[in-house]
Amino acid sequence: RSEWLRRLCEQVRRMSFNVAKVRQDFPIFERTIRDGKKLVYLDSGATSQKPLSVIEAESNFYKFHNAAVHRGAHQLAEEATDAFEGARLKVAQFLGAQEEEIVITKSATESLNLIAYAMGNAEPGNPFHLTNKNRIVVTEMEHHANLIPWQQLAARTGAELKWFEVTPEGRLDLSNIETIISEGTKIVSLTHQSNVLGTINPLEAIVKRAHEVGAVVVLDACQSVPHMPIDVTELGVDFLAFSGHKAVGPTGVGVLWSSKLNELPPFLFGGSMIETVTMTSATWAPAPRKFEAGVPNMAQAVGLGAAIDYLTALGMDKVFEHEVALTGYLLNGLMEIPDLAIVGPTTTQARGGSVSFTVGHIHPHDLGQYLDSQGVAVRTGHHCAWPLTRKLGVPATTRASLYLYNNESDCDALFAAIRGAQGYFA
Ligand code: ALA
Repeated sequence: RSEWLRRLCEQVRRMSFNVAKVRQDFPIFERTIRDGKKLVYLDSGATSQKPLSVIEAESNFYKFHNAAVHRGAHQLAEEATDAFEGARLKVAQFLGAQEEEIVITKSATESLNLIAYAMGNAEPGNPFHLTNKNRIVVTEMEHHANLIPWQQLAARTGAELKWFEVTPEGRLDLSNIETIISEGTKIVSLTHQSNVLGTINPLEAIVKRAHEVGAVVVLDACQSVPHMPIDVTELGVDFLAFSGHKAVGPTGVGVLWSSKLNELPPFLFGGSMIETVTMTSATWAPAPRKFEAGVPNMAQAVGLGAAIDYLTALGMDKVFEHEVALTGYLLNGLMEIPDLAIVGPTTTQARGGSVSFTVGHIHPHDLGQYLDSQGVAVRTGHHCAWPLTRKLGVPATTRASLYLYNNESDCDALFAAIRGAQGYFA
């Protein structure tokens, strides 16, 4: 089976991009780890590696164009503003959105907090105003960044927090969608692709029901935007958040997209987000500026623009095809290992390349350490999704997460290292 899959992967790769060539764009793959071992990086769900073009875009901004955007009346300020706004335009085009619908934040976590705080600031009469008659719906497979802000908003407003449960196979149980998304529900917030299970959630039915009751849908797209083509107009959601660092971009930059920014009150107050200010009051600039108080993370935004150029040049449909093929190879190879149990869907049907598993009695932290000793970098633990791992009855898992620079030899190295650990801990 693995041989058949290897051939399939090769076939897919011939039709798409050349992984060996892609790897040459990422300086980190030139180094070795743990006494000269090849770096087998299978932790892109936590953060991706960066191509040289991204590293240089960020550093060139500081070297040649650094100035505070939207303020100065000098050439550097003009260049910096053009570079920053150019990055916003690239993000908008990448998502099929309008420029004024894109807010540059410091992370996806900040984007999600921004929405929750801003809604908490909504006065009576504002469509986002919440009371104890309203409901916020999430799912059991959220990572903490898309759970805790909603817990806090519920606590501040008296709204009720409800959630979709997860089936043993790692899918959302939507059997009670009509009752969970009830009349009075104001927000439905969910992950597009689970960072633990790899599950890609079906949005159509959720969006339809949410809009039927007048709720908005917030999509945590941290694990989908880097891995598949996304067009917000096709998804039908109202808000979307993702981070730059998981999409070959820099750390310290995230994105919030929404077509409803004008109705949302601001969250952070200060310079740049205002229209007029007196000693006792202020009015707000139009979106997206009203959500970007202070001097923004300009160099990081420019780096994100370069990341988007990189992904666009590869083609997001090709990135997705490559990952689906490689995920099939990874799943099959893992399932051939005795005592290994995959936590999450075991086929490539509606799933991405984050694969969690347990191996017999070996504690994931011990396994992770052993794999590291063999040059294989994975994540172990609850993956910032503690309620999910608790629900699935596993205190922790080991997770291998794939990206565009991974190939079958990375998977083979993982398989060999797991078998080595089984011998070591026998
Ligand atoms: N960044 C976290 C992860 O590793 C949530 O999946």
